[in-house]
Amino acid sequence: VLKKFLVRILHKLGVLPGSGISSWEQYRDYVRIHPTAILAPSSSIKIFNPPVPSRVCLEIGEGSHVFSTFALLRPEARIKVGKRSQLGNSHFICADSIEVGDDVLMAWGVTVMDNDSHALVWEHRKNDVTQCYRDYLVDSSNFIRTKNWEHVAMRPIVIGNKSWIGFNVSILKGVEIGEGAIVGASSLVVRDVPSFSVAVGNPAKVVKKDDGSGGVCQSPEA
Ligand SMILES: CC(C)(COP(=O)(O)OP(=O)(O)OC[C@H]1O[C@@H](n2cnc3c(N)ncnc32)[C@H](O)[C@@H]1OP(=O)(O)O)[C@@H](O)C(=O)NCCC(=O)NCCS
Repeated sequence: VLKKFLVRILHKLGVLPGSGISSWEQYRDYVRIHPTAILAPSSSIKIFNPPVPSRVCLEIGEGSHVFSTFALLRPEARIKVGKRSQLGNSHFICADSIEVGDDVLMAWGVTVMDNDSHALVWEHRKNDVTQCYRDYLVDSSNFIRTKNWEHVAMRPIVIGNKSWIGFNVSILKGVEIGEGAIVGASSLVVRDVPSFSVAVGNPAKVVKKDDGSGGVCQSPEA
């Protein structure tokens, strides 16, 4: 009985793995969550290399409802989520900057990744596995402690106000999703999506565009 009681207390304090809010508690000096924002139990945050001294790396605005997982890879990484946005069970992987606007709808299975993780040139990535392996042996919770980011491409991502991102979409580095834009399910977005257009496919292409009448999308030829 005593053991059960202790386990329950440790879970409440977020000390045991799988204990609800533990990751949010662990990084409380690095996050600013508006009191009205909801962090669903499926949501979590992992800051691999927290900045020293501590500063806010992730912000979630008023009335937002979040089911997502956030990984911040470098001390410089920054994620900002605006107001009244609903982010499903999706992944944000950030080395530089990811910004989600206000009134955004994002479904489940979305991956938003602002970096490539590895360099294009073999010479520049040849030590990556060894580095991960060694870092893992020292501290299994941070296998990118000594990672060299010098040759890894990264560019900020901006997901505009009022946009809607369908399920299983992937959004890669440097993409700007315009205001009110819609990205169809399972699309791979590598280029900007104009405001109030619909983009679909791999790579995502515009199939309907803004008709200028207040956020109504039309076929390009209309
Ligand atoms: C984006 C979406 C809403 C657009 O719907 P729509 O405006 O009715 O689109 P249409 O059916 O008129 O399709 C327009 C064209 O794009 C194509 N298309 C539509 N969705 C596509 C997709 N996800 N991937 C690839 N092509 C797609 C259609 O085949 C059609 O091409 P065609 O004109 O050559 O035949 C819809 O396709 C979609 O992805 N729905 C899922 C939304 C979602 O993820 N909801 C989860 C809860 S948030």
